Order: sequence, then structure tokens, then C-alpha cells
Amino acid sequence: MTQDPALPAELLQHRVSDLPAGAPIALPLTPASTFALPGTTDAPFTYGRAGGPTWSALEEALGVLEQAEVAVLPSGMAAISSVLLTQLTPGDRVLLPSDGYYATRSLAERFLVPAGIEAVLRPTAEYAQQDLTGFTVVHLETPSNPGLDLCDIAEVSARAHAAGALVVVDNTTLTPFGQRPLDLGADVVVASDTKAPNGHSDALLGHVASRDAAVMETVRAWRTLAGGIPGQLETWLVHRGLETLELRLDRMCTSAQVLAERLAEHPAVQGVVHPGLASHPQRELVARQMARTGSLIGLTLADEGAAERFLAAARLVVPATSFGGVHTSGERRARWGDAVPGGFVRLSVGCEPTEALWADLDAALRDLG
Ligand SMILES: Cc1ncc(COP(=O)(O)O)c(C=O)c1O
Repeated sequence: MTQDPALPAELLQHRVSDLPAGAPIALPLTPASTFALPGTTDAPFTYGRAGGPTWSALEEALGVLEQAEVAVLPSGMAAISSVLLTQLTPGDRVLLPSDGYYATRSLAERFLVPAGIEAVLRPTAEYAQQDLTGFTVVHLETPSNPGLDLCDIAEVSARAHAAGALVVVDNTTLTPFGQRPLDLGADVVVASDTKAPNGHSDALLGHVASRDAAVMETVRAWRTLAGGIPGQLETWLVHRGLETLELRLDRMCTSAQVLAERLAEHPAVQGVVHPGLASHPQRELVARQMARTGSLIGLTLADEGAAERFLAAARLVVPATSFGGVHTSGERRARWGDAVPGGFVRLSVGCEPTEALWADLDAALRDLG
């Protein structure tokens, strides 16, 4: 699958093409909680918990990318919970990835299961074999974080729809430039914009996108009534980040590909997983479903000690737990309890020049002896 060049052009152009003379080209940040309502409540904005101009600008920009209605939420988890908590009722059954982002599973264990919702966990690569009969929501994450396994969004969506289920895809690792779940048949996209869309490690945000008007109305009502709303500054920061997402993602994914190929040949490395490698077990699906192969690399070193020494020695790898930022970062995922070997490092490749990164990684690996 290839990326449509019209999308990044439209993203940059849609808001500024009809600006009146003298208007700022940059999006104004409007930190308003209350809006003037002389004699009527019929106004574009009324009260900040229900919406405001900065939110609307970001929702329009994300809507251009998703080609769908969008609601912004204060974090990726707020986006995920706004869908799961509103679409599931007691007695329902939800399918979740056992190898996906751990907080989604914890949300189910702590809050969905006690409310009488059955949560079934399956590895992402085994969704193809899962009977979907009886599920209300099928939630998937492909590539999964951190193992980078895939499942076929179009195939799972078709079977889930035949079984009457709503299909929700966490598209955080690839963004709409890397993968387009709604075009492949999914009903809802949830994503953490804390990652690459913001890209500068200075704001948390998330969004829900769908072409199903009823789902979006419910998510917006949930946001207004539960009251978990994005801050205006965070929204503005993500809007600003989004304008360079395509450029940053291009550098990050291109570098990740080069680095993954070289790391796979390195004598100090026991294993490398990256969707762009010819060795990825689902290579055919990568080509069919993904426009970009992402900025994440799973790197297995000899053991926990080797992984920690590598992270300490690599000057260009910030030891941190997020991904998608301009700075390359990395961490041992077993420290959070992910089902990966002790020496498994998740590398998030940033925007540094590729050869500078390689020189740094290579030197840190040589230090391991
Ligand atoms: C795949 C995935 N989904 C959702 C989230 C949650 O995002 P946030 O931290 O913005 O709530 C994360 C965070 O790492 C993630 O990796």
C-alpha cells in the first residue's frame, strides 16, 4: 500500500487557503472556558467542556487525515476508554490483544470485567484463527506494541461484521500516514497523539475517528458529560506537531528500516523484529496493509544486563518509555511486565540523521564486547 500524497498537502492547506487579509497563518491558541451568548445558546461554542476553537481546528486537521469525524480526548487511553466504556454493556464480550499496549488490558481487568463484561485476550497474530461469534467489540492493535506482530484488518473486520461486532483499531504505532484502518473496513480508530502526531514529547492527547455518526455522537456525549477533556494548550501543541508529522515520520521510518537491517547483521544482536524486514513473519500482510513500516524496532540482546549496558552506552538513545518523538528513545520492555525476553529493547527511532544514529548504536553494541 502506498501513501496518498494529496493527504499531507490537504492537511497543510485546508485551514489557510481562505484566510482573510491580515489573519495569522499559525493557528491562534484560544484558552477560553466561556463564550459570549447574547440572548441565544445557538453559537458555535458555548462552554469549554463542550468544545472550543482550538479543539475544532485539531479535529478538522485530524479529520482530513482520517477522512472521518474525529473527537479529541486528553490522552490515548482516554480515547480507548471513551469507546470501550460507551460501546460495551454488562453481558457483552470484548476481544482484546494479549500482546498489545498493557494499559488497555488493565482497563478491562480493573473496570470492564467487574462491570459484567467478558474480556477475551488473544495474541495479535492469532486473531485470524479466533472465532468472533458473540463479540460486541473486537479491539485490535496492529502492529502490536511492543512485539510488532500483525493481524489482517480487512479480514478481521469482515468476519467481525458478519458476527455483528464493532471493530476498533488502535492505530497509534503507524498513524493515518502509515495505515488506514477505516479504509480497510474497521469502524473506529483510536490513537495516542502523544506519540508521533505531537512528536515533541511535550503533550498528551488522543483521538477517536469514525465514519459511524452514532458512535461519534456517543463518544462526544461521553467526553462532555464525564468531563475528561483535552486542555487547549495540549490541543494547540498537537495541531502544531501534526503539520510536520509526514516529514518526521518519513525520516523516522526510513532510518528505522536502515537501522533494523544493519542491526539484524550485528554479531552482538540475537534478534531483530521490524515490519520492514524481509524476515518479518507477516511480510505479505505488511505490503498489503501498511503504507509505512513504522519507527519501532524490537531488539533482543543477550540478557537484561547487556540491554541495560547498551542503553547506558548509546548517547543518542534517551532512556524513556514513550515512542514517536523527535529524539530516539529506548527501554527494556520486560521492566513493565511485557511478555518479552529480559534482553528485549524497544527502540523508537527519532529524527536524528540516520548515519549518526547508526554510528552511535554500533559503538554501544561494540562496547558489549
Ligand atoms: C499502542 C498504544 N495505545 C495507546 C497508548 C496510550 O496513549 P496515552 O499514553 O496517550 O494515553 C499507548 C501509549 O504508549 C500505546 O502505545
